[in-house]
Amino acid sequence: MWKRNLLILTASFAMFSVPTWSSDSTLQAQEGSDPAASSHISAARAVVASCADCHEVDTPGYTHNPHAVLNLDAGLAARWGVTSSCDACHGDATEHIETAGKDGTIFAFGDDRSSAVKIEACLQCHSDAHPRFFSTAHAQAGLDCSSCHSIHASDGAKSLPRLLEGPLAAELAARVGADNAVCSDCHSSVFAEFEFNERHRLQEGTMGCTDCHSPHEPETRLQLAGFKQQACIDCHVDKGGPFVFEHASQLIEGCASCHTPHGSVNRHMLKTQSVADLCYSCHAAIPGFHMRFTSESQCTNCHVTIHGSNFHEAYLK
Ligand code: HEC
Ligand code: HEC
Ligand code: HEC
Ligand code: HEC
Ligand code: HEC
Ligand code: HEC
Ligand code: HEC
Ligand code: HEC
Ligand code: HEC
Ligand code: HEC
Repeated sequence: MWKRNLLILTASFAMFSVPTWSSDSTLQAQEGSDPAASSHISAARAVVASCADCHEVDTPGYTHNPHAVLNLDAGLAARWGVTSSCDACHGDATEHIETAGKDGTIFAFGDDRSSAVKIEACLQCHSDAHPRFFSTAHAQAGLDCSSCHSIHASDGAKSLPRLLEGPLAAELAARVGADNAVCSDCHSSVFAEFEFNERHRLQEGTMGCTDCHSPHEPETRLQLAGFKQQACIDCHVDKGGPFVFEHASQLIEGCASCHTPHGSVNRHMLKTQSVADLCYSCHAAIPGFHMRFTSESQCTNCHVTIHGSNFHEAYLK
């Protein structure tokens, strides 16, 4: 459970302009014959209603919110030791209610709170799924879960993508999906790379950032540069091998040793315009008869199985 002694004062406070919780149809529908479930649901409803006395609680958005299940499922709530969805994240509110909202009596996610404390509040339940979040580039850059997830302003989409502001953002989300829009909101230069003529068709909506990156794992990048970049092979099965004659470069540095996978001006999203330049960037010593080749030479006319071969050690077949 959330530890009250970690509470820190925070001045920022916003009200939610949304209807009341007591008309929640999901809660009513599920209040059935099972007495344990019924009593859990009425207890949860009492808590939520008490908050709604003083706060405008986001009901329509919130009932689609996956956390509303904590109000309905006695087993889940017991597992996390909470009475309702509200105390799940904001902690026990007894003192807060008794003192009619005295400063510092409830856990808030204000901006002056350290990101580690905010992350911890989510990880008390989600540590199974995201045990290594603290090691990610995002956590280390001082971001927290709400950098990508929105709890109260959710439109109900399952992963709760943070809502973006402004008409352009809405257009972007409609085009590439809310998850990709959230990433692109911060990584706009990466997003722009998907406009090059040779590219993965992310901007056309056929794939997403998370097809290659895991937002919760430290390997956000490393996993991609690991053994042959498994994420790539999930789609490009034929490049995966194993081959009798592996091209060692991709074993060590992965596909990105030769490709710029977001997009590129070079054919096949290669790192360089000229294939020979790419090869020479690693190969200094090559057989003498290669002297006649220039940077215009198409090395892969002969080295056809450049990703690995079962038949020839120099990838000639
Ligand atoms: C009797 C009225 C009242 C009730 C009931 C009440 N609150 Fe509050 N709450 C307030 C007031 C007033 C504030 C503003 C305090 C401030 O400005 O620091 C507040 C602030 C908050 C904050 C922000 C605190 C901060 O430090 O920024 C949160 C979160 C919150 N309430 C959650 C809840 C939840 C969850 C419930 C139900 C379990 C609840 N409140 C019930 C009156 C109430
Ligand atoms: C999954 C965690 C979670 C749940 C469940 C949750 N909240 Fe929040 N709440 C947050 C976060 C995070 C913020 C900060 C603003 C944001 O990111 O949307 C917040 C903000 C608030 C605020 C504004 C004060 C502040 O901290 O900035 C109030 C009031 C509030 N919540 C009340 C409630 C009530 C009432 C419920 C139950 C209906 C509830 N919350 C359920 C996570 C949660
Ligand atoms: C008291 C436990 C608890 C806390 C604390 C909690 N969650 Fe959850 N969360 C759940 C449960 C239960 C679900 C719904 C069931 C499920 O999908 O596992 C859920 C679902 C989610 C989902 C959607 C899952 C999906 O399948 O799309 C996201 C995203 C999420 N939580 C983020 C957060 C964030 C961010 C915080 C902190 C602000 C937080 N949670 C705090 C218990 C919790
Ligand atoms: C960099 C953005 C980002 C951050 C930061 C982030 N998430 Fe996520 N999260 C996503 C995206 C995108 C998805 C959609 C699922 C996917 O494609 O992997 C997701 C999915 C989820 C899910 C549902 C699916 C799953 O993998 O279990 C949960 C639960 C969740 N996030 C919780 C959290 C919690 C808790 C934190 C903080 C500890 C957090 N997230 C931080 C972007 C982020
Ligand atoms: C709130 C802004 C923000 C959002 C939203 C965001 N990021 Fe980041 N991202 C950062 C920052 C800051 C860093 C660390 C500094 C850097 O490397 O640029 C980072 C780093 C990264 C890295 C590099 C990691 C490394 O090891 O070098 C990847 C990959 C990444 N983000 C992918 C994503 C994806 C995918 C999403 C969407 C699910 C996302 N980001 C959402 C701000 C954000
Ligand atoms: C086809 C797979 C793939 C997709 C889709 C993809 N990435 Fe990447 N991304 C990679 C690989 C591989 C690297 C590592 C490149 C390297 O090591 O040179 C990378 C590197 C990064 C980096 C760190 C280096 C840099 O270029 O700044 C960030 C940030 C990043 N990606 C963000 C994103 C975002 C945001 C999206 C969605 C808009 C996205 N990526 C979609 C494969 C992908
Ligand atoms: C040693 C450099 C190198 C590495 C490492 C590499 N590639 Fe390539 N790749 C190339 C070259 C060169 C071409 C262009 C082939 C041609 O000219 O016909 C190419 C072409 C491709 C093509 C398009 C043509 C085709 O054969 O389908 C795909 C897809 C591809 N590579 C995927 C991958 C994947 C996935 C990985 C990682 C498992 C990878 N590549 C690693 C050099 C490399
Ligand atoms: C979700 C599936 C998926 C993933 C993951 C994926 N790709 Fe692709 N890739 C595609 C598709 C589909 C195309 C064809 C794009 C088009 O022309 O519409 C493609 C095209 C390519 C091409 C250009 C092929 C050509 O003929 O020019 C290269 C190179 C490539 N991918 C490399 C990679 C690398 C490297 C990774 C990992 C970082 C990766 N891909 C991850 C689906 C994927
Ligand atoms: C990122 C570095 C890198 C790039 C780029 C690269 N290679 Fe390699 N290549 C290697 C490494 C490392 C080996 C293994 C060398 C060894 O075992 O001595 C290798 C092995 C080979 C071999 C097998 C013969 C040998 O020396 O073992 C051939 C042939 C070859 N590469 C051709 C190419 C061609 C053609 C290109 C351009 C399309 C290319 N390579 C691009 C790193 C690279
Ligand atoms: C006309 C066909 C042809 C072209 C074009 C060609 N090669 Fe080769 N390459 C060969 C043959 C044949 C071998 C020797 C294979 C053997 O020893 O069994 C070879 C061997 C190699 C080796 C391995 C040397 C070793 O130590 O075993 C490398 C590296 C190499 N080529 C790189 C290149 C590069 C870079 C280019 C483009 C500038 C290129 N090749 C273009 C036919 C070609």
